Amino acid sequence: MTRTARAYTNIALIKYWGKKNKQLKLPYTNSLSLTLDRFYTDTKASIVDSDQDIIYLNQQLLDDAHSKRIRNYLDIVRQFYSFSEHFQIDSVNHVPTSAGFASSASGFAALAAAVNETKQLNLNRRELSILARNGSGSASRSIYGGFVEWIAGNDNASSFAQPIDEHPDIDLSILSVVIDTQNKKISSTVGMENSVKSSPFYPNWVTLVTSEIEEIKQAIAKKDIQKIGEISEHNAMSMHALTLSANPSFTYFAPETIRIIQIIQELRQKGIFAYATIDAGPNVKIICTKESLPKVQTYIEQQLSNVTTVVANIG
Ligand code: PMV
Repeated sequence: MTRTARAYTNIALIKYWGKKNKQLKLPYTNSLSLTLDRFYTDTKASIVDSDQDIIYLNQQLLDDAHSKRIRNYLDIVRQFYSFSEHFQIDSVNHVPTSAGFASSASGFAALAAAVNETKQLNLNRRELSILARNGSGSASRSIYGGFVEWIAGNDNASSFAQPIDEHPDIDLSILSVVIDTQNKKISSTVGMENSVKSSPFYPNWVTLVTSEIEEIKQAIAKKDIQKIGEISEHNAMSMHALTLSANPSFTYFAPETIRIIQIIQELRQKGIFAYATIDAGPNVKIICTKESLPKVQTYIEQQLSNVTTVVANIG
């Protein structure tokens, strides 16, 4: 039996930053994202007569070290659903690293869905979201399109994403600005752990997210794009304040990241709609409208010669 599944990546407007249970990937707070239309992972799962999983990523066989995370994940799936067969996984990422989006969200969502189909587990979308979350927290949200909220929950069964509006009729696009950087990446897992452990502001983050989630949901319902932009940018900056205030301090920002944040402020002063959101890396995702996007893109490309820009819409 072989089945294929596709999942799209998402960008968090209200970020997930901190696990209260590392093993189950239970977050301290809810988070809220926008699924995009351009970047996705296609994953094929086939049952094989072997006592080991065989993992191909982008047509390359992964060695033990590189496939460990996926094999550990498949062990969790086997344990959850009490079966013993192993898989050959063929996963192709259409999330170019040059687009600056993480592939773990679409990757684990597609893997969970492919295994569900191949093993005929008949999981509903909530159960699929739970299964995807066990691979990567943000993957729980990639089970749905549009605006999605991940409910933090208290145990495996109560931590899942749910759609807010899967087909929003709203004028928002995302311009990803990819910074060419040699910076060594601190994984989101390590970054979260250090922030929770040592930022004096972590308790405030939990309070802030709780209120910002409610505010942004109201803004989404009213299609108040300016409010959505303002809340998203403030939330992202607050997340990065947790890394700067950790002890020892660290940051995902590169010099160009700061420059782009300033450019976005300049654009707003000129009356052009642009708000920043930044994940666990130096690249900036700019929330634009259809009208502002070409202006923002041209301005950024004029001001910075060593960046690439990629456009995505709601998916
Ligand atoms: O799902 P992870 O472990 O890759 O963590 C995602 C963390 C952020 O992208 C920074 C925020 C988010 O909610 O997606």
